[in-house]
Amino acid sequence: MNNINNILITLFILLAIPACGGGGGGGGGDGDDDNVGDPGAIVITDTHQVLAFNDLGMHCADLDYSTFVILPPFNVVHSQIIERGSIPRIQNISEVNVSYRAVKDATGSINSTSQNQAGAVEKTNFWDINPDTGNTYVFDLFGLNPPPDEGLAFGQRMPGILNPYTANDPQPFNHFDSDKEWFAADGVPILPIDNAGQLNAYPLMRVSATNPDTGKTLASLDVVLPVASEADCQNCHAAGEVAAPAASPIDFILPDDINDPNSVLQAAKHNILALHDDKHGTRLLNETPVLCAGCHYSAALDLAGTGPAGEQLDNDTMSGVMHGHHGQLTDPDTGERLFPTDGTLEETCYQCHPGKVTKCLRGAMGGAGIECKDCHGSMLAVGSNMRVPWVDEPRCESCHTGDAVSHLGDDIRLSQAWDDDINIATPRLAANKRFSENNNTLYRNSLGHGNVACEGCHGSTHAIWPNALASANDNLAAIQLQGHTGSIIECSTCHTSLPLTLNGPHGMHNVNSTGWNLEHEDFYEKNPNACRACHGTNLEGTELSRTAAERDYLRDDDGDRTIHLAKGTPVSCGLCHEKP
Ligand code: HEC
Ligand code: HEC
Ligand code: HEC
Ligand code: HEC
Ligand code: HEC
Ligand code: HEC
Ligand code: HEC
Ligand code: HEC
Ligand code: HEC
Repeated sequence: MNNINNILITLFILLAIPACGGGGGGGGGDGDDDNVGDPGAIVITDTHQVLAFNDLGMHCADLDYSTFVILPPFNVVHSQIIERGSIPRIQNISEVNVSYRAVKDATGSINSTSQNQAGAVEKTNFWDINPDTGNTYVFDLFGLNPPPDEGLAFGQRMPGILNPYTANDPQPFNHFDSDKEWFAADGVPILPIDNAGQLNAYPLMRVSATNPDTGKTLASLDVVLPVASEADCQNCHAAGEVAAPAASPIDFILPDDINDPNSVLQAAKHNILALHDDKHGTRLLNETPVLCAGCHYSAALDLAGTGPAGEQLDNDTMSGVMHGHHGQLTDPDTGERLFPTDGTLEETCYQCHPGKVTKCLRGAMGGAGIECKDCHGSMLAVGSNMRVPWVDEPRCESCHTGDAVSHLGDDIRLSQAWDDDINIATPRLAANKRFSENNNTLYRNSLGHGNVACEGCHGSTHAIWPNALASANDNLAAIQLQGHTGSIIECSTCHTSLPLTLNGPHGMHNVNSTGWNLEHEDFYEKNPNACRACHGTNLEGTELSRTAAERDYLRDDDGDRTIHLAKGTPVSCGLCHEKP
């Protein structure tokens, strides 16, 4: 069923079907997390910085592999290593080694292994033997046989592989991408259950750069590997619910134990296969474990990028069938759309994407009340065959369309990424590219200032700093890099010294710099519009000139008068002297 070459590899995505754990407490029990090898303290030096970032801001993985599978455990971390200097340099694979190991978060949660601990912690059956075939489930589904704790690509492993629950051995990033100048750990098989058996969708890994000759640690950074298994298919596909009504000729089953979330989910998964078989003459119930993407192409499972093959050629894509079909459904009682076009997050995307508990939409925009539909449009827009799943996505430039001098729409920042129809939702393109991605390139693959990845200075998609959900651990990396969360704006994170300049990120000048404070006059006189772009057409201050931290600046050149600015103050020129 699966063309193996096709299936492997990249995989990202937000959706999945939990089974072993279910809500609340995973397998329960107390794992020996205190015994896990301690990675020691974070290393901060003045010679290097580690930038590290998850590509998507959320990955989904099924926990159960015996019925059907949407996505395997497969996380992706990228890392750029900066050698600090007056001209910072991004290091390559001959200059530095990069590895990761698990680290505790502020609540003490640590996730160093995806293996089960007999009688205590149940994480997944991914690597277990399928009694029906005698093979492992991972082999039945993907045709590969990695050992427990090893993922589907390049042998990327969990740090506990050799001695789960005690070892925490640094694992090397498996390759270096010389175009992007980043190290890649593609396919870390992490699951959202920590070593104590508790659900945690935001586990931390410490990424370290070491000198290849001496083994000395040059710098490190704590980064989240977000992963969730929260999909609520059972809300509708459990027997008796709207998608499995009691009065149906199809033999929908009830859970063995109505109080056990895993049992409820297993029954719902059975019912989904029964429904699919009934509608389309497939025999999925007899072919478990089923990989949906075997017949419905998903770019998330096609790293080689070879495109649909075999049965995938005859069927719509996974994104197309899931969003398109569900998006058209109506409630038999009310006749209203089951997933309302303009519905809330809970009524629509959070029915399957994580979710009501996980709250994957946690970054600067999510925190400001912007929802999936404001960027992606409705279910029908996502499921439309006018777009290519995984490629035609919203863009930062769709709302950040320029600066105070030149932008689209009424505001510097818009709050909707499209201006056609919610059921089409074509991402807007900006004319002023100050805050844009690289042409025809997704945010996660774009590079900005000095070839630093956008995600290196802003964090992952859906988790753009500053992060609203503190428990998600995302802000930690920004704080380690510059002392506060938000976009990486402190030039000193990477530069040891700088001439006065307007050539920083997006045309930014020196920040928190006495030199700039005293000597910006010439820059203004040479090009007043350069200042108006962020400080406003009347130099009144805008959201683009807000202080990123509390600051003390000088108001005149003999230093007698200073001004204290709270974090978030829009800097207007009138704060310190008459507007020029
Ligand atoms: C809000 C309710 C709801 C949720 C949540 C939901 N579904 Fe459905 N689904 C439905 C309804 C209603 C149908 C149509 C049932 C029918 O045709 O009798 C359906 C149909 C399906 C079908 C059969 C489509 C066909 O006609 O072949 C599949 C497969 C399916 N859903 C999978 C899933 C999966 C997987 C999830 C979780 C990731 C999920 N659904 C979540 C309501 C839901
Ligand atoms: C053996 C191949 C095969 C597998 C495996 C498979 N499907 Fe399908 N699926 C089909 C065919 C054939 C159709 C009908 C033609 C079409 O719409 O693509 C279909 C239709 C659907 C539809 C309805 C599409 C629509 O627009 O009406 C949904 C939803 C769906 N599949 C979901 C799933 C899910 C979820 C899984 C995994 C549990 C899955 N499929 C596994 C072959 C398959
Ligand atoms: C019924 C379950 C379900 C609901 C509801 C749902 N999704 Fe999805 N979504 C999925 C599945 C399954 C995938 C994985 C598809 C794949 O593997 O290619 C997915 C993948 C995606 C993708 C990545 C693939 C692509 O098409 O680019 C986007 C974007 C997405 N969903 C957006 C949304 C948005 C926005 C909403 C709410 C309007 C939503 N989804 C609601 C099940 C759902
Ligand atoms: C502020 C805008 C914004 C909001 C809100 C938003 N997304 Fe996205 N989404 C994006 C952008 C931009 C991308 C492309 C990112 C990339 O891969 O470079 C994307 C991509 C995706 C992808 C494909 C994986 C990826 O990262 O490329 C999925 C799945 C997805 N979004 C689901 C959702 C869901 C579900 C929600 C709501 C819970 C949501 N998005 C809310 C902007 C948004
Ligand atoms: C739907 C429109 C929309 C899209 C798409 C969008 N943003 Fe935003 N963004 C906003 C709005 C509106 C705000 C102001 C939020 C507020 O009021 O706190 C904002 C704020 C920000 C901020 C400032 C946060 C702060 O408080 O300092 C950053 C940085 C940012 N966005 C980066 C991005 C990046 C990177 C992308 C692409 C991955 C993106 N945005 C995509 C609308 C959008
Ligand atoms: C070296 C660090 C750095 C890199 C790399 C970087 N940015 Fe930024 N970005 C910043 C800073 C600093 C700001 C805040 C500027 C301000 O407040 O005027 C910012 C602000 C933004 C904003 C928000 C503007 C607003 O309305 O507040 C967006 C959108 C954005 N960047 C997108 C990108 C994209 C897309 C890339 C990659 C092509 C990128 N950035 C690369 C540092 C960076
Ligand atoms: C995350 C690291 C990082 C941060 C933060 C950063 N830079 Fe840079 N910067 C670089 C790198 C890397 C280069 C490229 C050096 C080269 O050309 O090889 C660079 C180059 C420069 C250059 C020379 C290249 C040119 O375009 O003229 C200037 C000027 C500069 N940065 C200014 C700034 C300013 C101002 C800030 C703060 C607002 C800043 N940088 C923040 C990494 C950074
Ligand atoms: C890309 C956006 C951007 C542009 C362009 C820009 N500024 Fe700023 N400016 C800011 C931000 C953001 C701050 C607040 C920085 C902080 O303290 O966190 C700031 C702060 C300042 C300050 C107070 C801090 C200090 O160091 O004295 C002065 C003075 C200033 N800007 C002058 C100028 C002048 C003059 C120009 C034009 C030559 C200019 N700015 C262009 C974004 C910008
Ligand atoms: C944090 C305080 C501060 C802010 C904000 C500030 N300046 Fe200044 N500015 C100074 C200082 C200090 C001097 C040099 C000493 C002096 O002349 O008093 C100066 C001098 C100047 C001068 C030359 C003397 C004059 O008054 O004509 C110009 C022009 C100027 N600034 C333009 C700007 C512009 C444009 C902005 C806003 C984009 C700005 N400044 C924002 C502190 C500030």
